[in-house]
Amino acid sequence: MSRLVVVSNRIADPRKPASGGLAVAVGQALEASGGLWFGWSGKIVENGTPGEGDLHLQQAGNVQLATVDLSREDHDSYYLGYSNGVLWPVFHYRLDLADFDAGYIGGYRRVNQMFAHKLASLLKPDDIIWVHDYHLIPLAAELRAMGCKQRMGFFLHIPVPPPLILAAVPAHDWLIRSLFAYDLVGLQSNTDVSHFSRYVGTETSADILGEHEFRAYGKTLQVQAFPIGIDVDEFTALGEGKDAQDMYAQMRREYSRRRLLLGVERMDYSKGLPQRLKTFRQLLQSYPENVGSATLIQIASPSRESVDAYAALKQELESLCGSINGDFGELDWMPVRYIHRNVARKRLPGLYRAASVALVTPLRDGMNLVAKEFVAAQDPEDPGVLVLSRFAGAAEQLPEALLVNPYDTLRTAETIQRALQMPLDERQRRHQALLARIREHDVYWWRHQFLAALAAIPAP
Ligand code: ADP
Ligand code: G6P
Repeated sequence: MSRLVVVSNRIADPRKPASGGLAVAVGQALEASGGLWFGWSGKIVENGTPGEGDLHLQQAGNVQLATVDLSREDHDSYYLGYSNGVLWPVFHYRLDLADFDAGYIGGYRRVNQMFAHKLASLLKPDDIIWVHDYHLIPLAAELRAMGCKQRMGFFLHIPVPPPLILAAVPAHDWLIRSLFAYDLVGLQSNTDVSHFSRYVGTETSADILGEHEFRAYGKTLQVQAFPIGIDVDEFTALGEGKDAQDMYAQMRREYSRRRLLLGVERMDYSKGLPQRLKTFRQLLQSYPENVGSATLIQIASPSRESVDAYAALKQELESLCGSINGDFGELDWMPVRYIHRNVARKRLPGLYRAASVALVTPLRDGMNLVAKEFVAAQDPEDPGVLVLSRFAGAAEQLPEALLVNPYDTLRTAETIQRALQMPLDERQRRHQALLARIREHDVYWWRHQFLAALAAIPAP
């Protein structure tokens, strides 16, 4: 059997908890099959030479980890610059937050070349290579240029924007052209596939051979939606563990007379946090019965803090939380509990289970695994309600959630009030349907579907 080689910028020891959808899902999928996981070590070498980095090999269970250090210059131009200063905002429709510095692209190409070089030395001829996310779009093109003939697939964890937004990325034509070095490209949703197809139709001279098949630059490429899922059984088992149970008991004690609303994510402008806080303020204003009785716990873990847009978001959130607490808080009740840290993964299910309502309201999100984790963690006899942004990829799969437009604070506040008042039988019905959906399309289904589709493509 062929060995699976997974490549992503962020990697994690699959035996340890991670934060960020990619590392969580890929770690789980890879641990089940074994193989090699290649990526950035997380280490920045202050005076390192651009385009160079030490390679480290380490065994983690049945997964071999191969990681490369980045020089400060490469880290700043490839990771902070082109990946998180250009691609991330533009692909999340935030042209206003993009930093189109012409110098970044050189670092992006240099690191992709270096990764290709280091990886090639570890490859076997019949390996299957699965590359993940926007940091590494040109990796296959670099590997092919070095003569690698293995089957190569790519999965994009973030959304594909409409063609005219994508066209704002400097060198977008080069970027999309380089995707054609893969045999299969996986996207999160049908909307993403349709945006990709429209881009190819309008911005390139490719032939559209079928709904999922494109021919250009002498190469045929398959593009399909493979919505990513979670490991439902693992998450349920985590919920039965002592840490999660303790967390649940502690929350129930502390909030015995109060309703809990919960948000959990990385602190990222795509997650709609300011809009969520404004909506919560609106809820308190429109439905004063919640004053003194509803609490929003907002966990937002630090992320990419050296990128300006993230630092500005932190300030905005602190100010919004302060003003809501100042305006509405009482001596024995604070409306918002804001925590700028990670929650240990083994405690998370307890927190989800204690919440009456989860607010998963990104302005744009490739999928959003928190929505699925919340569903998996609920008590089926007395489940909480998922309020989900229609702009999360997960909305295509989870129609039984209460879907909202997070920009519309008035209507979203109405929907949260509806969630707080939802009768038990409706909560049970919706939860049962949602649970069946996340079970059917879990992380193993995702891995299997992608790899089976890749294996079905004739070798180049
Ligand atoms: P993204 O990939 O944009 O970070 P997702 O919702 O798809 O968003 O995945 C986030 C993953 O990271 C989930 O598995 C979630 O449990 C975890 N996570 C996010 N924020 C936190 C946090 N503050 N503490 C612990 N885990 C977190
Ligand atoms: C999202 C991206 C991943 C990224 C993760 C955490 O899930 O799709 O590629 O790893 O966020 O972000 P970070 O920049 O810390 O890796």
